[in-house]
Amino acid sequence: MKLGIPKESVDGESRVATTPEIAKKLVAGGLEVLIERGAGQHAHFGDDAYTEAGATLTDRATALASDIVATVRKPSADDVAAMRDGALFVGHAETCDEDPVITAMHAKGITVLSVERIPRISRAQSMDALSSQSNIAGYRAVVEAVNHFGRFVPLMMTSAGSAKPARIVVLGAGVAGLQAIATARRLGGDVYAYDVRPETREQIESLGAKAIVLDIGEGGAGEGGYAKELSDEGKARQQALLADELAKAHIIITTALIPCRPAPTLITADVVERMRAGSVIVDLAAATGGNCPLTEAGRVVVKHGVVLVGHTNYPAMMPTDASSFYARNVANLLDIVLDRGDDVVRIKDLDDDEITRDAQLRARNA
Ligand code: NAI
Repeated sequence: MKLGIPKESVDGESRVATTPEIAKKLVAGGLEVLIERGAGQHAHFGDDAYTEAGATLTDRATALASDIVATVRKPSADDVAAMRDGALFVGHAETCDEDPVITAMHAKGITVLSVERIPRISRAQSMDALSSQSNIAGYRAVVEAVNHFGRFVPLMMTSAGSAKPARIVVLGAGVAGLQAIATARRLGGDVYAYDVRPETREQIESLGAKAIVLDIGEGGAGEGGYAKELSDEGKARQQALLADELAKAHIIITTALIPCRPAPTLITADVVERMRAGSVIVDLAAATGGNCPLTEAGRVVVKHGVVLVGHTNYPAMMPTDASSFYARNVANLLDIVLDRGDDVVRIKDLDDDEITRDAQLRARNA
């Protein structure tokens, strides 16, 4: 059974779907691991390290023609054309609308295991790539904020004067938000956080931050632990009630997302205008419209004296750890996908396990 790892094709993507350490385990588990030359280069994993781990270096076409192909990002249409009929694909593949690449995979009988669809249950935690990558994003968001902030974060007392702790507000306390809270606390910030799901209050407080509690007159919890979109009145109340808290912040890390919907606006342009010059907003929702309408996806801009950071791929800014975590997620998923017999490795019936059943991205008409 061949597992192919092509170099990522999306612009700026520096991660790789397996590392030498994990490749070694996969080879020991009976797979022939084919790595496209240079696939790990941007994540600082050299070709030699993969060959030492027992993997085989190949060209792109050979890696793509494997029985199983694992990538971080969705492959291109050309990549799909190079894949084998009936292969198994593992990677980020989620799509809210019709997507020609996914349609092309289905047309070739390729089984698509979308890491975004892995259910958020305890048994699947070691495979949960959304969580491993969101954790990195939450940490990195704080690092980026601090990098653009012209002041100290912690209380600082020196012979040349003292600085008060920075007031940091985290919006959205999912995986990325909770990691942002923990990181901001470690740096000594005075941290406040808010989420529309009431159960997050305890989690926020357990990390040493103060929970912002708003009465918006409706519940924000949706299905599967995710948030749902608020009514127009709820959105307006939320924006109004948050405004004073946000205007006082030195740094805002905002992470609020709703699956397959535009990101909710939590920081209005008026609030940005009221913030102190030199404050920083890191908008992790930039790729889906942003939690602030002034955010520009993929750019760092200054508006009303406030720095707005709109990067859209934080894990790729930390490709070594992001790849290591992702590779481990994929290997753990393959552990339940593969039937490792005495001398033959086979793919199990994926509908027999809740995790692989749910993770399959099926054809719309299937
Ligand atoms: P996400 O990335 O979809 O959203 C980020 C956060 O934004 C969420 O906490 C959401 O409630 C919040 N949000 C959305 N709209 C908002 C608004 N208008 N105002 C304020 N906040 C808003 O969420 P993520 O990080 O993917 O987590 C989704 C769920 O999965 C959570 O309930 C989390 O606890 C759960 N989870 C469970 C795991 C497990 O049991 N294995 C592992 C990881 C996550």
